[in-house]
Amino acid sequence: MSEPLLVVRGLSVDFALPGGAHRALDSVSLTVRRGETVGIVGESGCGKTTLARAILGLERPSAGSIEFRSPRGVEGLGMVWQDPSASLDPRWTVARSVAEPARIHRKQADVGALLREVGLDESHGSRFPHELSGGQRQRVAIARALSLRPDLLICDEPTAALDLSIQSQILNLIRDEQRKLGFSVLYISHDLPTVRFLCDRIVVLYLGRIVEEGPSGDLFEHPLHPYTRMLLDSVPSVEKVGQLPPGGVGEIGSRPDRGCVFAPRCPYAEDRCRSEAPPLRGGQGRQAACWKPLGATGPSDV
Ligand SMILES: Nc1ncnc2c1ncn2[C@@H]1O[C@H](COP(=O)(O)OP(=O)(O)OP(=O)(O)O)[C@@H](O)[C@H]1O
Ligand SMILES: [Mg+2]
Repeated sequence: MSEPLLVVRGLSVDFALPGGAHRALDSVSLTVRRGETVGIVGESGCGKTTLARAILGLERPSAGSIEFRSPRGVEGLGMVWQDPSASLDPRWTVARSVAEPARIHRKQADVGALLREVGLDESHGSRFPHELSGGQRQRVAIARALSLRPDLLICDEPTAALDLSIQSQILNLIRDEQRKLGFSVLYISHDLPTVRFLCDRIVVLYLGRIVEEGPSGDLFEHPLHPYTRMLLDSVPSVEKVGQLPPGGVGEIGSRPDRGCVFAPRCPYAEDRCRSEAPPLRGGQGRQAACWKPLGATGPSDV
């Protein structure tokens, strides 16, 4: 196994709201190794973007630590956001946007080469974002994120704002660049098939807590947590059309005062689940926070 590059330990992030503090991340621990692709999945509001922002130093943790073991510090971090229109300055040419990280770090960027690398033409450099398609804009954002040769590329739903036909091009671009350059990827998405395609390992978040993690194949084939099972069951497939989704009920809710965060929606919740929070436990790299993991002692006929 390669060495750890990003080590997050016991990370909590709170937001001050009029009604009191809102805990967006609760004791999250995860490791991304060199060259590894780790997926973060979970419904809207579970804390995915907050995690990315905390790693980038844009949110202040209320507990825990974030250790990024790149000898180059923040220079070794690249970021691709969901909406390329919002992440590129509309008044700047493409060339200026791509060269910006290098300028900040007092370096030179070969903008033409970077544009060619992401499948654009050098002549795109003199254009403005509004003169490009959504897919082209995301290619520009990727060229910028790769310009300083990151050790870790964080992608927060990088294809969610794009047409379906363009999404796979962008995914393939990220995967091809990773194969060529060898960086690690933290890939945030609620699109499970995409995450399975791209990631070695998956971390499942629910209301700011990690409820399950494991190698991609195993997690998809044998989910241990009822929430993971519910996410997988909600992926549309040809066979499922016309059927009601089985398993859990309702939408992401508010965090219960005690017990398992998923208990209010879990079809298997028992008294203990409502009173005592299950710890994340299991073997090396394969863990779930559940008192009755599926397939082990729990029901397997969801
Ligand atoms: N600046 C903020 N102030 C107050 N609450 C916030 C702030 N940013 C995020 N939150 C809250 O923290 C929780 C996690 O939000 P976050 O944006 O990290 O979720 P997400 O998993 O990225 O969701 P999505 O899939 O919709 O992008 C949500 O309840 C959100 O309302
Ligand atoms: Mg988000």
